[in-house]
Amino acid sequence: MSYARDAIARISGYVPGEQPGDKPFVKLNTNENPYAPAPRIATVLREFSWERLRLYPEPSAKMLREAAAAVYGVPMEQIICGNGSDDLLTIALRTFVDQGGCLAYTAPSYSLYPVLADLQGAKHCAVNLDENFELPENAAALAAGASLFLMARPNAPTGNSFPLANVKKLCREFAGVVWIDEAYVDFADDNCLPLLDEFPNVVISRTFSKSFSLAGLRLGLAFSSLEIIREMEKVKDSYNVDMLSQYLGKTALEEVDYMRANAEKIKATRRECAEQLKALGSHVLPSQANFIFLRPPKPAAEVFAALREKGYLVRYFALPRVCDYIRISIGSDEQMRGLIACMRDICG
Ligand SMILES: Cc1ncc(COP(=O)(O)O)c(C=O)c1O
Repeated sequence: MSYARDAIARISGYVPGEQPGDKPFVKLNTNENPYAPAPRIATVLREFSWERLRLYPEPSAKMLREAAAAVYGVPMEQIICGNGSDDLLTIALRTFVDQGGCLAYTAPSYSLYPVLADLQGAKHCAVNLDENFELPENAAALAAGASLFLMARPNAPTGNSFPLANVKKLCREFAGVVWIDEAYVDFADDNCLPLLDEFPNVVISRTFSKSFSLAGLRLGLAFSSLEIIREMEKVKDSYNVDMLSQYLGKTALEEVDYMRANAEKIKATRRECAEQLKALGSHVLPSQANFIFLRPPKPAAEVFAALREKGYLVRYFALPRVCDYIRISIGSDEQMRGLIACMRDICG
């Protein structure tokens, strides 16, 4: 007998990538950034007057939204901040999907999406990506009846970025809200922000966890039409972004060029690693993200375990369609040299 709602008692919940604590792993499993955040973050932290913590933070994260408006060219009224973009996804479910309603999401994709449907007590509509892990052209028809459609572009764990034409077709044809999760967009060639002017039903979310090197802070942003943002504001916790995150997030946005330079370094490392892994016999999917998704020449579960044995933590999903692959986050050049050497030992 459980005291929880049936919808909760039935499920096991989301399982995050392993956080090994103090164990000396090279951690390439949760797409964190190998480089430190912008140095001015340290200055702001040092100069922050700790007495201020007795007060609540500004509820709407105004200064953060102002800084984001300046960087992204979207009015601050069309921006909402979250305790990580996961928080914004939870807000989305509570805003747009009734209990007993239906959530559509691409599959395979971010493994949190189906869990969010379960938590809300909603039905699932998994829209399968095609054989190349691309968004199918008839995605809207496949998701008919759902009120919210979640997709990641670039996609996780596959790393590809769906053709913009297919995304636009979905936004045009889908009757509900289309949520484009751009967690990895700073490592990609284009983004979907221009779609905000074209489609009132589009939401775009971003995170500070990947390109800004601030996964520990928990900070995300979402952009949409005024009407959609207003509805989401009713649902969010009153103080969902703490005071320090607001200051540090604002600073990170002011230092956006630092982030962009790091993203370029990671893209260069990604290109080099992909070539080396291909030379070692892996099938490497083209990546627009800070990770690569590959089918190694030996069984993926074995390669994952052997890498772990050698001190390299990568991600393996024992799930249909992706169980022959491993996902490797792009680390520093030195970390990746070590990883390639291990792959040579394991697969050579
Ligand atoms: C597609 C996607 N969206 C969102 C997130 C989570 O972002 P945040 O750290 O902002 O909650 C992740 C994390 O791995 C992700 O892969």
